[in-house]
Amino acid sequence: MTSEATAFRADRTRYDQLMETVRGRLTSRAFNSAVPVPREHIELVMEAARHAPSGANAQPWHYIAVTDAGVKKQIADYFVEEQRRRAKLKMKFPTPNYRGLESAPGFIVVVADFRFLRAFPVLLDGSDLDKQYQENAERILLQSVAASTMSAHLAAAALGYQVWWVTAIGQQAAQEALRPLLGIPADLAVIDIMLFGVPAKPPYKRWKKTLPQILHWDRFNMDKYMTTDQIDAWVKEERHKVMYRDESKID
Ligand SMILES: Cc1cc2nc3c(=O)[nH]c(=O)nc-3n(C[C@H](O)[C@H](O)[C@H](O)COP(=O)(O)O)c2cc1C
Repeated sequence: MTSEATAFRADRTRYDQLMETVRGRLTSRAFNSAVPVPREHIELVMEAARHAPSGANAQPWHYIAVTDAGVKKQIADYFVEEQRRRAKLKMKFPTPNYRGLESAPGFIVVVADFRFLRAFPVLLDGSDLDKQYQENAERILLQSVAASTMSAHLAAAALGYQVWWVTAIGQQAAQEALRPLLGIPADLAVIDIMLFGVPAKPPYKRWKKTLPQILHWDRFNMDKYMTTDQIDAWVKEERHKVMYRDESKID
């Protein structure tokens, strides 16, 4: 080993502090709206988002901090309506109560600028090959925005708040409904909403896969591979439990 390698000492204390925040970030779907989140805390949370890594350092994100209770309600109304549509389509996705959105004192709409796809390796000539590169570019962009959003979630958790990551938006109709409420230009997309605050009920820890289930050394270990049938069975029998139950109460 070189002397530089031997001089390095990992900082386990700081790691443990970070992990306390990482482990303690728990999704809450209703908040105590009587406990406001001061503007300063919103800025602290967004400061973490700002430092995130991104493909080509493009930083293809904007964050709209919503403070108007009427606008929060209108957004919650949209989500409740969308759940009704999904139920009618028989999607069978276990749905939370999206009325909880309007209770969130910290309410950040995450906006992605997909035009930054052109900052990544693409041909922009409309060819089939370009389509493949564009698909990959879209993944780069989504990962970038997720990295930034996750930094914000962890910062909120570090301040002692709990968080809710809501993506139940997606389609064109939702974009068209939400953009005008917030004055978002037509070429940008609402990608998700980050809610945070003091939870209305005590939060709980959800099931997480164990480290050996997800970590492979050197090669993909096929013992950990799930067939599509196994995934279908998981969706049918387990998904509802892991989404809404305390890990310690799952049989
Ligand atoms: C990309 C992403 C999308 C999510 N979308 C939603 C959503 O639309 N609605 C919702 O209630 N929760 C959503 N969640 C929250 C997850 O359901 C939650 O993180 C998961 O059940 C694990 O719980 P935990 O956050 O307490 O660890 C989302 C989380 C992520 C990371």
